[in-house]
Amino acid sequence: MAIDTSRVLVTHEQIEEMLERLADQLNRDYAGKHLIVVGILTGAFIFTSDLIRRLTMPVTVDFMQVSSYVGELSTGVLKIKKDMSYDIEGKDVLIVEDIVDTGRTLALLMDMLAKRNPASLKVCTAFDKPARRVNSFVPDYNGLTVPDEFIVGYGLDLDGEYRNFDDIRIVRKV
Ligand code: IMP
Ligand code: MG
Repeated sequence: MAIDTSRVLVTHEQIEEMLERLADQLNRDYAGKHLIVVGILTGAFIFTSDLIRRLTMPVTVDFMQVSSYVGELSTGVLKIKKDMSYDIEGKDVLIVEDIVDTGRTLALLMDMLAKRNPASLKVCTAFDKPARRVNSFVPDYNGLTVPDEFIVGYGLDLDGEYRNFDDIRIVRKV
């Protein structure tokens, strides 16, 4: 079986527009504040680096690496491979994710981080796939809503590959 990635869903130009729109919202909402931006590795590394260069408030950048799996609990279990480096108590925190799919990872992560008592805790995702949601998680900032397709590029991978595409492509197994 071969992988076909020839179908472009989101062009590089559309990604640039999405970045400008999100940065405008964030620059307005966090004006006068110091923001801790936490990118979720590995998928969000490109989106995080593009987004932070459009932010005008003081920013501290950090990364976490997490994954969720469905064990005996239907809510899933969060595995932290790499925690962030800063203490977020009393701080304004923005989690930056590549895509929200079932919503399990972010629902679990938000619960865990809320216990560290940040002043505020919000999520900015590049892409949202609401058709696959298993809970009521809604991102605070969403770049683009995408259909129920497996997508790659702009940091998103299939088994570690295709993150380097500068647009978003739909994966077809042929
Ligand atoms: P969930 O929201 O907990 O289901 O998981 C979201 C994670 O699954 C994302 O951070 C991605 O790493 C991965 N993921 C979900 N959908 C896609 C996709 O279409 N392409 C690539 N990765 C995806
Ligand atoms: Mg991810």
